[in-house]
Amino acid sequence: MSSPNPAIACRLEAARAVVHDAACLAMSMRPPPGGPAGKQKAAQDWLTETDGAVEAFIAERMKALFPDDGFQGEEGGVARAGQLRWVVDPIDGTSNYARGRSRWCVSLGLLDGDDPIAGVIEAPALGEVYTALRGHGAFLNGKRIQASPVTDPASAMIEMGWSNRVPKSVFMEKIDAIMDLGAMPRSGGSGALALADVACGRLDGYIEIVINLWDVAAALPLLAEAGARVSPFLRTGGLTGPATILAANPHIADALSKAVSIPLE
Ligand code: IPD
Repeated sequence: MSSPNPAIACRLEAARAVVHDAACLAMSMRPPPGGPAGKQKAAQDWLTETDGAVEAFIAERMKALFPDDGFQGEEGGVARAGQLRWVVDPIDGTSNYARGRSRWCVSLGLLDGDDPIAGVIEAPALGEVYTALRGHGAFLNGKRIQASPVTDPASAMIEMGWSNRVPKSVFMEKIDAIMDLGAMPRSGGSGALALADVACGRLDGYIEIVINLWDVAAALPLLAEAGARVSPFLRTGGLTGPATILAANPHIADALSKAVSIPLE
């Protein structure tokens, strides 16, 4: 394996540090268990004070470190353009965070043009940090990860993300297809962590019909480095708007893709 490009390796190191500080900030503001602390941007689409604070924190730090890099956030949109572009989801899994649950993360991805090249996902309440650099592996807490070896869909665990952007009939149809394969269904409320779960083998597949770039930007290099197969999210509208994603271990990817009618790359 060749040495990483120093300009990109240094960005990954910086991103790890910034995401860690941002995750500590989010932990310090984390609501206690209970009814949701936050408001709904739309039906069941939650926003907390922390989403804005964490995004502002990361935006400021990345601007100071890499002023020529582009920057895009879930809450603030595209702040700067650049060949290298950071894409942040300040809290992915806000609905969980707002209730004092543990399944949420800070997600920061780096794109070179239209190619996802590096990513950091930190889930501080779970004590987990995922990192990936294209061509140089994907890691969970510093240990190399890879997609699961499960070959039989009837032994698989497959997650489907839910949001109000998907008609109930479509959600039910896809869940039905997953269960018809014999797979065990899940829905955990954080698209970024679900994709990271596919990358590390805790899940065999993840699908979400309408998801955004900030939810997946850091996870895409993880999935590629971990040997997972992914649908062409970026080529089917994901660079500029919502699109569909399917990610799966390479052994069940074709069966899942066929069952839910989401083509693979
Ligand atoms: C949401 C989560 C959820 C997914 C939604 C996303 P947010 O992101 O990733 O799992 O199903 O599509 O919008 O709002 O918590 O950043």
